[in-house]
Amino acid sequence: MSHPSRHVRSRTKRGAPLPRNLEVEIAALGGRGDGIASHQGEPVFVPYTVPGDRVVVRIDGRRGDGLVAWPLQVLTGGPGRVEPPCRHFGRCGGCSLQHLDGAAYVAWKRGLLVEALARAGFDCEAVGPLLCIAPGSRRRAAFAFARRRGRLAVGFNTKGSHEVVDLAQCRLVAPQLIDLLPPLRDLLPALIDEGREGDAVASLTEAGIDLLVEADARLDLFDRERLAAFADSQDLARLSWRRPGGELIEPLACRRPPVVRFAGVGVVLPPGGFLQPSREGEDALASLVVAAIGTCTPVADLYAGCGSFTFPLARMAAVHAVEGDAAALRALSAAAGESPGRVTTENRDLARRPLSAEELKRFQAVVFDPPRVGAAAQAEILAAAGPPLIVAVSCNPATLARDARILAKGGYRLRQATPVDQFPWSAHLEAVAVFER
Ligand SMILES: C[S@@+](CC[C@H](N)C(=O)[O-])C[C@H]1O[C@@H](n2cnc3c(N)ncnc32)[C@H](O)[C@@H]1O
Repeated sequence: MSHPSRHVRSRTKRGAPLPRNLEVEIAALGGRGDGIASHQGEPVFVPYTVPGDRVVVRIDGRRGDGLVAWPLQVLTGGPGRVEPPCRHFGRCGGCSLQHLDGAAYVAWKRGLLVEALARAGFDCEAVGPLLCIAPGSRRRAAFAFARRRGRLAVGFNTKGSHEVVDLAQCRLVAPQLIDLLPPLRDLLPALIDEGREGDAVASLTEAGIDLLVEADARLDLFDRERLAAFADSQDLARLSWRRPGGELIEPLACRRPPVVRFAGVGVVLPPGGFLQPSREGEDALASLVVAAIGTCTPVADLYAGCGSFTFPLARMAAVHAVEGDAAALRALSAAAGESPGRVTTENRDLARRPLSAEELKRFQAVVFDPPRVGAAAQAEILAAAGPPLIVAVSCNPATLARDARILAKGGYRLRQATPVDQFPWSAHLEAVAVFER
């Protein structure tokens, strides 16, 4: 496996210099998808390996309590090892586990939720089977690009670096988005200076692709015309530009409103706005949320985004949608008139100003779907004054487990937790957890 060599600076725990190369046997898979071996009592983390592999590794340094290593040669493959389907696997940071067979992968992925909840003191019997979302269905991707030595590469970053893997194929992302990469490769060198980099966030909507380019370039009139012509030639729904760190998003072409539909309600996405990565994943999450909420009304939908749960819930319940991103909430509010149910909205930073005990009184149930950091502040108030039913949706088992622990202190029991594999072949996992008291 090719990887730039690194200098070894660390020592063993006992102070001896670390060997440069080692032969190890992988005993288990860790939470980040790395194989775990052992050297003089210390764990050694080795990416792209499976339990049972005998591997020669290069020691690259330390991570937490263990050593980080790079696999140089697999001497004997473990029983779960398979041929990865993508030619970029091993360099591209988009996938970590294509080399693991289906059954072992499913057991490992479900285990991420089981172990996080068990560490927080919960019973694993509440954890259901893994719902698998097929690769190739991702409708939203943030591609990285960089111009180096006159060449422009577009794709995903390599594992743990800013180097861009120039993607020729991808098994994860919808083909329509991958088809956009060659034209972007042709377009961007005229706009991006040597040594510069950026991101192209592409979302597949009902009206076609919505593309937001984020890069540090001063666009002149000719650049803007070139970009508008690109939107025409690629039949994009919309094309926008943002300079890194800038608040302002400049629309360069809006040929059709980029609409996504939640329970039949059309929402015009804000440029670069949050969207669950696949339609299938979103449907799975929304079905679990709706089934758990049952006939409860009214419901608070916290961290509502553009309304992926709000509108399915509004078929049965009055829903109060709360969201911190003003553009997302505007999109949700603008569509609320189309919803058959009653939807009210509120733009609010829930980390700084969670719903108070007084505000929570009127809800029969609460749904929350925070970013990776979780919703500790809101969970504390829910524990003290929440309704009988809470549904937590999460993209991070560790913060879900922490928030669950907070709820448990307030007397909530975990009724059911469902792991949803929205990010196949990666160490990311989505989950829906239902709590009651
Ligand atoms: C994981 S997304 C979920 C969005 C939506 N539920 C969905 O499924 O599409 C998390 C959402 O929380 C919002 N958010 C992040 N931090 C927030 C905060 N401090 N207060 C309120 N909303 C926040 C983000 O803008 C984003 O829309």
